[in-house]
Amino acid sequence: MASSFNERIDRRHSDSLKWQKYGDQDILPLWVADTDFRSPQCVIDALKARVEHGVFGYGGTPGELIDVIIARMRERYQWEIKPEWLVFLPGIVSGLNISVRAFTTPHQGTVAPTPIYPPFRSAAKLADRTQINGQLRLENQRWVMDIGALEPQMNGNEKLLMLCNPQNPGGTVYRKEELEAQLRFAQRHDLIVCSDEIHCDLLLEPGVKHIPFATLSSDAEQRSITLISPSKTFNIAGLGASLAIIPDASLRARFTQTRQGIVPGVDILAYVAATAAWRDGQAWLDEKLAYLRESRDLLTSRINAMPGLSVAPPEATYLAWIDASKLGVASPARFFEHHGLGFSAGREFGDDGFVRFNFGCPRDLIHEALRRMENALRTLNR
Ligand SMILES: Cc1ncc(COP(=O)(O)O)c(C=O)c1O
Repeated sequence: MASSFNERIDRRHSDSLKWQKYGDQDILPLWVADTDFRSPQCVIDALKARVEHGVFGYGGTPGELIDVIIARMRERYQWEIKPEWLVFLPGIVSGLNISVRAFTTPHQGTVAPTPIYPPFRSAAKLADRTQINGQLRLENQRWVMDIGALEPQMNGNEKLLMLCNPQNPGGTVYRKEELEAQLRFAQRHDLIVCSDEIHCDLLLEPGVKHIPFATLSSDAEQRSITLISPSKTFNIAGLGASLAIIPDASLRARFTQTRQGIVPGVDILAYVAATAAWRDGQAWLDEKLAYLRESRDLLTSRINAMPGLSVAPPEATYLAWIDASKLGVASPARFFEHHGLGFSAGREFGDDGFVRFNFGCPRDLIHEALRRMENALRTLNR
C-alpha cells in the first residue's frame, strides 16, 4: 500500500518558513527542521472543532494535557512527574534562552558540545555569557560527547550544561552509560543541566531507547530542566506547544521569574493540537517512523557511495549530518545550493565542513535531492 507520507503537499503558498526561503527558485528546501508531512488526522480534527467554537480568548493549560503528559512520562520512562513541575512555553528555544539567563550570571558560563542546534550557542551569545564547545567525536558511526576534551577547558565559572538528546545535528540517542558520564561531569563541576529532548519520539534505530536525563537518579532530577514538545514529532512546530519539566522548586522559581512578562503562554490552538497529538497520534507516528527509517537507510547508503561525502546513520531525528569536508570546496552549503539543494550550513552548527540534510519529506523529493547531489559532485574535477 502506498504510504500517505509519499504525498506531495504544496507548501509554497502556506507561509512556510522552509518553503519561503527559496521562493520560485529551483532549490529544494531541505533545511529548517520541520517536515512536509500532514499532521495526524486527530490533530486536524481537534483543531477544526476548536476553530468552529469561534471564541479565541486567552487560554489556560488544559487539565487533560497535563494528565496526558504525566501518563506519557510514566509509561515510557517510569518517570513520576508532578503537575507543578510543568512550565508551559511557546517554544523550546525560549526554554534554552530562559535557562541561560535564569541559571547563569554574566560572570558564569555555559557548556554545549558542538556541532549543536544553533540556538544553543546563540542563547549564550545573546545573554552575553561565555560558552565552552568541545567537539563531539565520531565513534562507531555515532556522534558522542568527548568529556575528556571538555574537562581541561573548564575554569570553574561554568554553571549550565546544555544537552541535546537525541542530538541535533548528529542524530545520537545517548545510552545510559553515556548519560551517566554526563551526569558525573555535571556533578564534578556543580552544573545545572538543561536537557533539550524535543526529538525524543523520533527514534529510527531499532532497539534504541530514549532515556530522559532527569531519570538517571534523584540528583539528576533535581539539577535538571527537561525540555519537551510534540512539535517535531507531529509536525506542529508552527503552533508552538512546549514545556519545561523542572522538579526542583528553586530552579523552577528562577526559571518562571526570568520568563515573567517576556515570554508569553501557549497559544490555545497549540494546546488543543498538543493534547490530541500526544493522546491519539501514536499509530500515525509509528507509520511515520517506519517511513523515515527507510528514507534514512536509502540516503545514508547512497551518500556514502558518493565521492568525498560521508554520513553516519542518525539514530533519531529526520536530519542527516553530512561530512563534505573532503570535497575541497570553500562552503559545501553554498556549493550544493548552487546545484539546487537547500541544506542547512554546517557553519551554523559549529562545523564548516558539513551540511545538514532534512529528510522529513516525501521520498520522491529525497530521490531528486540525491540525483542533484550526484550531478553536483560530477562538476568537481576529480
Ligand atoms: C534540538 C532542538 N531544540 C529546539 C528546536 C526548536 O524548538 P521550538 O521551535 O519549539 O523553539 C529544534 C528545532 O529544530 C531542535 O532541533
